[in-house]
Amino acid sequence: MSKTPLFLRALAKEAVEKPPVWFMRQAGRSLPEYRELRAKHEFLEVCKTPELACEVTMQPIRRFGYDASIVFADILLICEAMGMDLTFGKGMGPQLSPPIRTKEDVARLASKVDPEEKLGYVGKACEAIVAELPSSVPLIGFAGAPFTVACYMVEGAGSKHFLEIKKMMNGAPEIFSALLDKLVDNTIDYLRMQVAAGCRAVQIFDTWAGELSPMDLERFAVEPARRILHALADLNVPTIYFARGCAASLDIVKKAGADAYGLDWRARIDQAWPQLGDVAIQGNLDPACLHAPLSVIKEKTRRVLDEVKGKPGHIFNLGHGILPSTPIASVEAVLEEIRG
Ligand code: CP3
Repeated sequence: MSKTPLFLRALAKEAVEKPPVWFMRQAGRSLPEYRELRAKHEFLEVCKTPELACEVTMQPIRRFGYDASIVFADILLICEAMGMDLTFGKGMGPQLSPPIRTKEDVARLASKVDPEEKLGYVGKACEAIVAELPSSVPLIGFAGAPFTVACYMVEGAGSKHFLEIKKMMNGAPEIFSALLDKLVDNTIDYLRMQVAAGCRAVQIFDTWAGELSPMDLERFAVEPARRILHALADLNVPTIYFARGCAASLDIVKKAGADAYGLDWRARIDQAWPQLGDVAIQGNLDPACLHAPLSVIKEKTRRVLDEVKGKPGHIFNLGHGILPSTPIASVEAVLEEIRG
């Protein structure tokens, strides 16, 4: 048996006996042991306390034996490091203040964050996690893609229509580009720190890329993500780009130059894969289907596997993050179907 973990072999497109499985947002949210810990500690406190972040990262690994682990952190921590005020109000989602709207707002944000100084707790968490993980389970580092993080910075919170960001993008593209540039530079250093702390793959989450027209998608989402991935090339760590909602524009998405791409549930893997080229693919079960009867969950899991037909380079995942209300038995049913 090869010593290289299953997840990394699949990322390298080696033929494997069964696809590795991990779920986006697997740490936290859906687990009772997470909710128990959260009753005693605020979300940001968990992120910033390496022992707590390590514990929460390990919980889904202990319970389900996923083939990869993702460090417990958030894509918006970098906004705080760049000088914004970040809060997660009860039931309100993230709030960033004051929102970035003008040239002066962008100028005030740090251009060169020292990741050790401002985000060192994530590096410390990675080190603690790597020390605890079985050697067969690699740790994934992550960051938000510049466009998606900028959405929160400009809107000041989650958004439905992304009007503020599109106003800036269309009305003052030079200001918007300056914001993206700062995010690109800081994200490169942040991800390099995570790799130095032991992460063996990195994923960039572009949750809102699908809100853009194809023309804007390339310029404002894929190109900044490409610059980050390109700047990590010397690390020889596989990279994953998850651009949610972009199944109709994969010819643009592939320009990110990642080693692997995440697909959401709207994509058909058998059609999407050839469009993305000689890469690994991660996906793409609808997370909402984990609320279906177990027999239906297994059937839908099987359908994803049938579409892939054992092609080397498939990593089983959901099409987006696992929902907080997901029953544990549903996750077990997926794992059984894949591993059984
Ligand atoms: O994957 C993991 O389990 C690791 C940790 C992780 C979190 N956030 C922890 C978290 C990861 C990878 C993220 C990424 C993230 N954060 C994204 C991109 C992925 C996606 O789901 O689209 C986005 C858009 C965010 C921003 C964010 N953070 C939002 C919108 C929210 C509130 C709503 C929600 O998803 O729960 C958060 C809070 C957050 N980040 C929680 C967790 C566990 C919930 C906090 C809590 O109440 O305990």
